[in-house]
Amino acid sequence: MSLKTKIDPNKLPKHVAVIMDGNGRWAKKQGLKRVLGHGKGTEAVRKTVESAAELGIEALTLFAFSTENWNRPKFEVDTLMSLLVSSLKKEISTLQKNNVRLQTIGNIEKLPRKAKEQLAEVIELTKNNTRLTLTLALNYGAREEIINATKIISKKIVNNDLKIEEIDENIINSHLYTFTLPVVDFLIRTSGEKRISNFLLWQIAYAELYFTDVLWPDFNKEDFYEAILNYQSRERRFGKISEQIENSNKEAEY
Ligand code: FPP
Repeated sequence: MSLKTKIDPNKLPKHVAVIMDGNGRWAKKQGLKRVLGHGKGTEAVRKTVESAAELGIEALTLFAFSTENWNRPKFEVDTLMSLLVSSLKKEISTLQKNNVRLQTIGNIEKLPRKAKEQLAEVIELTKNNTRLTLTLALNYGAREEIINATKIISKKIVNNDLKIEEIDENIINSHLYTFTLPVVDFLIRTSGEKRISNFLLWQIAYAELYFTDVLWPDFNKEDFYEAILNYQSRERRFGKISEQIENSNKEAEY
């Protein structure tokens, strides 16, 4: 029986973020070239998007290409960019069928022209979809995002559009690339690595973290359900104590 049946639809994380790791190691284990691991990784992307949409999760953010990934061999960078273009083309029907809206975070200006054009096309085609917001982090780095927000806020202060005293968490949130998304409740990283790697540093302040040894190309729907069940087994305290959380749950029931 699928683990899906055990998931409580009333206790879903609103926003799930995923560091998709282990493509290279997966390929090596099969005696294949690294880039074939990325190709297989696109299948795991489809399965994860479908499961998130089917469950009713509002937002799914995938770390597809970091600001540091440009330092990989040129052939690998080129392959990742071509895979992005071909997968976007191929998966338009999956996105439409599952009512998924696509968007990106990160500085996509630096991506190859073809990738930017294909992204623009799919973003436009899916802009009215309402079930799940799929955000691809592309040329994304959290420190760059925070620097970018700081520059915009500073300009507003210099132009007298904002006062220093007005800077609070909401102001910072609203200047990050993720400004339209709910806070991240749950962060998954595959492949056994236990690092954040400059992903959504501000946004994961109170997120539950989940690390699995499964390599990204092997990550399937049951692995995603297992992760969600693990999330649902946790008590989120946000700095409070257990009794306070129990009491506020009771109040909510009345
Ligand atoms: C990490 O594995 C994965 C990436 C750097 C890129 C993720 C890309 C994909 C899943 C395919 C294309 C994406 C989309 C959205 C169509 P790694 O290469 O760092 O693995 P390793 O640590 O085993 O070397």
